[in-house]
Amino acid sequence: MKDKFTTKAFAEGYLARSVYKLKDMQGKFRLMKRGDDVLDIGAAPGSWTQYAVEIGANVDAIDMNKFKVRDAKIIVADIMSDSIYENLKKSYDVVISDAAPQTTGILDNDTYNSFMLSSRSLEIVKKVLKKDGKFVCKIFQGSYYSDFWKEMNSVFRHVKTFKPVASRKKSKETYLIGLNKL
Ligand SMILES: C[S@@+](CC[C@H](N)C(=O)[O-])C[C@H]1O[C@@H](n2cnc3c(N)ncnc32)[C@H](O)[C@@H]1O
Repeated sequence: MKDKFTTKAFAEGYLARSVYKLKDMQGKFRLMKRGDDVLDIGAAPGSWTQYAVEIGANVDAIDMNKFKVRDAKIIVADIMSDSIYENLKKSYDVVISDAAPQTTGILDNDTYNSFMLSSRSLEIVKKVLKKDGKFVCKIFQGSYYSDFWKEMNSVFRHVKTFKPVASRKKSKETYLIGLNKL
């Protein structure tokens, strides 16, 4: 069954319903603006990338799966590999990460795998996000959440949590938003 966000996304030409999560966060936190250099981590099928391009950002988007978005630089790679840095800019104004594991239904495994991706995204952020830059990161709520929250607070002056309206009610996902990288 298609929900209202999926139907709306396809009607509006977006590649996934996730776009409304980013739109929600953009509305609240003014994350990106025209001319910003933006890195999108875990970006396929590409709706966040589409939206960042629409805003007028210069977008580099990375995912292990192939995908295509006009006017964005697409990097097909595993974010766990250090060779990704060869394809990235030295610095970005904003990093957005919606990276998520294939869920297994085994809660402990899923939250651990999500934590590993979020931690890796934060490691990338430490290297390539400008001072005062912004970061959005998906994380599953569970055992590792408070560790990740602490780590985020050591990298950003302000850290906010946000559950977008388009997040499915039963989903464990939430987003942390880091503002003003130290
Ligand atoms: C929820 S989807 C992202 C949806 C996207 N934000 C959009 O709006 O279309 C999560 C993505 O994370 C990617 N991902 C998971 N692990 C990854 C890894 N190790 N390296 C690169 N991408 C990864 C998956 O391939 C998947 O495409």
